[in-house]
Amino acid sequence: MRTQVVIIGGGPSGLLLSQLLHRKGIDTVVLERQTRDYVLGRIRAGILERGMVALMREAGVAERMDRECFVHDGTVMAYDNESFGVNFKELVDTTVIVYGQTEVTRDLYDAREKMDGKIVFQVQDVVINDLETDKAYVTYRTADGEKRIDCDFVAGCDGFHGVSRQTIPQDIRTEYEKVYPFGWLGVLSETPPVHEELIYANSSRGFALCSMRNEKLSRYYIQCPLSDKVEAWSDQMFWDELKRRIPDEAADSLVTGPSIEKSIAPLRSFVTEPMRWGRLFLCGDAAHIVPPTGAKGLNTAASDVHYLYHGLLQYYGEGDSEGIDRYSEKALARIWKAERFSWWMTSLMHRYPDQTEFDLRIQRAELEFLRENKAAQTVMAENYVGLPY
Ligand code: APR
Ligand code: PHB
Repeated sequence: MRTQVVIIGGGPSGLLLSQLLHRKGIDTVVLERQTRDYVLGRIRAGILERGMVALMREAGVAERMDRECFVHDGTVMAYDNESFGVNFKELVDTTVIVYGQTEVTRDLYDAREKMDGKIVFQVQDVVINDLETDKAYVTYRTADGEKRIDCDFVAGCDGFHGVSRQTIPQDIRTEYEKVYPFGWLGVLSETPPVHEELIYANSSRGFALCSMRNEKLSRYYIQCPLSDKVEAWSDQMFWDELKRRIPDEAADSLVTGPSIEKSIAPLRSFVTEPMRWGRLFLCGDAAHIVPPTGAKGLNTAASDVHYLYHGLLQYYGEGDSEGIDRYSEKALARIWKAERFSWWMTSLMHRYPDQTEFDLRIQRAELEFLRENKAAQTVMAENYVGLPY
């Protein structure tokens, strides 16, 4: 088989890139290790920046999102039972939307199916070959045996644990990593959200976040030690701890219920450079990871897709390789700013095991400055809604 772009990974990055390219007549094949249902079973974040919303529209998959999403003008920041709003709409005339990544992925799968997009599920042993030649090819195995696809380019959209990043020789790659000394215990519950906007809370007991998926589905998180096991947390224990960490008014109005999903995720910041090697382009979690505090995971994948999509359009449409040649440089310039913001939000809102009294007073001073200073809130708003592509 031959195609123009082999896309490894059928998560949001791979599906969005495939859908965008297909609509412009560029042929792709998506290779996905799992089944569609398995991919759709993953519970991930739910805040979309304006850039991601624009890409969903350009991909022709925005109809349900427009119908079902929440538009948020701002968010609530809370500390020690006090809270204040940061109003993105007022500060930077931009909003964010709340629409679960699961729904984004579902809409993209439906759209790929409608366009008869080529997706191979349950592939094993993907190997990317001859990337430094103009005869790159990918081999993989399915129940039908060994397969080979010859291609012009490979998009590595296979996430943090994928094969693409590892294909770049170690002496070419530079990896930057920061592992945080805590995790997030998350609960999904069929209960109404506690507030119409998100609440990010820094309490003496640790971080908490009140989020949502729709008017009947809420998503909550509390910071927990990395040694915690999810089975040690009953629903009641989770709700009691969440109430201790959010402002009294929210705790008093919180509607609790059985968790329909409960999990613990570690937090890390990670970037690999470069994001291109020969005919391979890394995209999304394959190249970088952010702590979820700034809601940047999906949105940084989106900006990678934007740069790669336009670079490939320029190559195939005008025979000009400037876009793909500058892909890594342009993607990384935006990625590092999102990494910084995600690190900043995490540092501001969490309690660290080794924090001294001085550290705590600095953290509090920053929260008070954010509460009182419009310029500080504008900087947060610019980053939260998404820096320009
Ligand atoms: N071969 C084929 N597919 C693979 C392989 C492989 N060797 N390794 C991983 N995959 C698949 C995974 O099964 C997954 O469906 O690649 C996909 C990668 O999807 P994601 O991990 O969701 O990464 P990405 O598409 O970049 O989306 C980033 O997902 O993890 C969140 O916070 C992150 O919101 C961000 C978004
Ligand atoms: C979520 O709704 O899952 C979510 C929202 C905002 C974040 C992280 C997670 O910063």
